[in-house]
Amino acid sequence: MVKVGILGVGTVGASVANILETNADILEARAGKKIVVKTGVVKNLSKDRGVSIKLSDNPMDIINDPEIDIVVELMGGVEEPYILVKKALENGKAVVTANKALLAYHRYELQEIAGDIPLMYEASTAGGIPIIGALRNGLTANHIQSIQGIMNGTTNYMLTKMINEGALYDEILKEAQELGYAEADPTFDVGGFDASHKLLILASIAYGIDAKPEDILIEGIENITQTDVAFAKEFGYEIKLLGIAKKVKDGVELRVHPTMIPASSMIAKVDGVMNAVSVVGDSVGETMYYGAGAGGDATASAVISDIVDIVRGNHGPMLGYKKPLESGMDLLFESEIVTNYYLRMSVVDQSGVLAKITKELEKFNISIESMLQKPHRDDELVKLLFTTHACQEEKIQEAIIELKRLDCVHGDIAMIRIEK
Ligand code: HSE
Repeated sequence: MVKVGILGVGTVGASVANILETNADILEARAGKKIVVKTGVVKNLSKDRGVSIKLSDNPMDIINDPEIDIVVELMGGVEEPYILVKKALENGKAVVTANKALLAYHRYELQEIAGDIPLMYEASTAGGIPIIGALRNGLTANHIQSIQGIMNGTTNYMLTKMINEGALYDEILKEAQELGYAEADPTFDVGGFDASHKLLILASIAYGIDAKPEDILIEGIENITQTDVAFAKEFGYEIKLLGIAKKVKDGVELRVHPTMIPASSMIAKVDGVMNAVSVVGDSVGETMYYGAGAGGDATASAVISDIVDIVRGNHGPMLGYKKPLESGMDLLFESEIVTNYYLRMSVVDQSGVLAKITKELEKFNISIESMLQKPHRDDELVKLLFTTHACQEEKIQEAIIELKRLDCVHGDIAMIRIEK
């Protein structure tokens, strides 16, 4: 028999405890041993968790219990779980964590501390989708050329409702919270940070990149308007919050931002809380993974897959390699990214304005691909929306600064990157 302790019996923890109990027979058959939860740890013992396991409010009841073989960390946060996971590993216990923030900051130290002790984290990225297993095992033959996907269920749920139903941002965020998709602090979701944590985990497995969230480009969905949505529809795009890791000539691009993608692409059709990740390998070509990216049972499914792998003795190096990966995998600066761009600005409705704007863009060698002008309802301004051919991020950022200086341009200029 294998005994498990769960640190944090919230939505996911309760699902883990309940599925381990309800599906005990099939899990014993698959793992070869009976798996039992001995203790769950919570902060507030008076709250009903909907589980039948023994609860404690002292994490040491798990960490220091010699009978517990596997510690499942589902607490959230970074520093407290780091200390506890470290202690659990030092005590020789295998660890399963769903904590992407912990891994975004401490995965390399934890790998070092874990050594040969299993430290598994399937549930940290894209909820129930077995993307970590796919990258660590299934695609191990490949140089990974790109990873691109919807890695946050809350924002995909929000964008889908905003785009398909014209729903209001605040109302739809509240709904996502009530459905248990959103992080405790939902700015993690809408600001793109949650997706960045997941992207960093995937980029470590694929490229061995040791970056932190502050090292990469992260933009959220806060500034997307119905104007952008309508433009995207008219020009054959969908807007999705994507995590993108791309190997290019000089290194690897890592970025999270709202992205216009062709409406005909598979990822564009992924709606609601669902996540989808496309991985391109040099041997296999494109592979695609789709499923629930949030929610108690879906995430618990991934947690339990790790527990079973550990019981089977089926783990391996935490990040999937025992020696450094190939060279030339340095993180590129944001300014070096090359892509297409959409710009939205308000300009005065007078002759010569377009010429001034295109002249400014010409200075940076930026070429316009398509353009749309929409009158504002109540004033003398018009909305000018256009897309550019591919150019370097540095150029578009400089051009935006210069455009904002023009008298004919009013207010901020919004920019959304395009991936073709
Ligand atoms: N808040 C996350 C999401 C949960 O919405 O995808 C899963 O990490």
